[in-house]
Amino acid sequence: MREINIALLGFGTVGRGVAEVIRRNSKIIEDQIDCKLRITHVLVRNTEKYRDLDILKDVVVTDDFNCVIDAAPEIIIEVMGGIHPAKEYIFEALNHRINVVSANKDLVALFGPEIMHTATENKVNFSCEASVAGGIPILKPLHDSLAANQIESIIGIVNGTTNFILSDMDDSGVSYSDALRVAQKKGYAEADPTNDVCGYDAARKLAILASIGFRANVTFDDVLVEGIEKISQKDIQYASEMNYTIKLLAVAMRQENGIALNVYPAFVPRSHPLASVKGSYNAIYVTGNIVEDVMFYGRGAGSLPTASAVMGDVISTAKHILNHSTGTEMMLTETKRIPFYSSL
Ligand code: NDP
Ligand code: HSE
Repeated sequence: MREINIALLGFGTVGRGVAEVIRRNSKIIEDQIDCKLRITHVLVRNTEKYRDLDILKDVVVTDDFNCVIDAAPEIIIEVMGGIHPAKEYIFEALNHRINVVSANKDLVALFGPEIMHTATENKVNFSCEASVAGGIPILKPLHDSLAANQIESIIGIVNGTTNFILSDMDDSGVSYSDALRVAQKKGYAEADPTNDVCGYDAARKLAILASIGFRANVTFDDVLVEGIEKISQKDIQYASEMNYTIKLLAVAMRQENGIALNVYPAFVPRSHPLASVKGSYNAIYVTGNIVEDVMFYGRGAGSLPTASAVMGDVISTAKHILNHSTGTEMMLTETKRIPFYSSL
């Protein structure tokens, strides 16, 4: 059977999930593509940490990116995070005509169009479904299934940490700082939770969603951001008395001459579908001029849910490789600049 060699950059929460999906669902995957996916190389910082892992017993574990490039895998999965050196590694891989799948929202929110341009030039795929809302399929549906629509608005609960905090404050009456501590303990928060609670993580995801939904070049800097750090139990109770709940919303709204892009804590009526999105779950509510309202809901983070999205991209890429297709899988190719307004 034909084999496709894969290298993983990073073997943390998501990287391990990817290896587990390939192990657990190998037959389901092979039946679809008539090909075996094999992880040959894993790049980490500290190889010692990974020495005795059974799942890596036939895999080269290295801290040297050149070793990965020299092995010429057909797909590189970047799940190491951060801007540097992930950015340099991705560009190098694409310039070596290696297909890349990434879950890195920080990078895609800043350099998505540039990365796509390089992928297209080199006739390889770059895809990043997992970069927004973990396991929820949203980028491909926005780009493909809703392509006949003019997207009017995208309203997302796209940060699990803040949604967990706000839900816990609402449901259990706990304080902001206690809820944040639990969210950190459960592993939802970024290494630096400022990115979550100040709304930056949601703003990065909104930039990616808006770029695809509105076929425009939107970056993180275009989004006006307000976080939830100042939300107190008093605010939650006040909202509740009026039959509202507070959610950190990421909103991209078409306006007469552009798009308004905002992340902010909002009063959401309890009757709205987004009000029932609790805990670390995410949801994206999209309105198109043909389809009207659709909502995507599910786990926005976590090892296996995020690996599900990564592997969806890997399988699509494998299908392209096997059909000898040279088109770029996704999607941030349009760089039209649409004016935005900083408030709704
Ligand atoms: P982790 O921190 O759990 O794992 C990071 C991995 O990358 C580790 O194996 C680490 O190796 C390796 N790594 C980091 N920096 C380097 C470097 N400079 N050189 C070599 N290896 C490096 O991250 P996650 O798995 O949680 O996240 C990975 C990506 O997925 C991020 O972009 C994140 O935003 C994204 N993502 C994560 C989600 C989640 O639920 N966790 C959800 C959606 C997206 P070592 O251990 O040796 O330091
Ligand atoms: N810290 C992020 C969140 C992880 O809470 O949503 C998934 O991107």
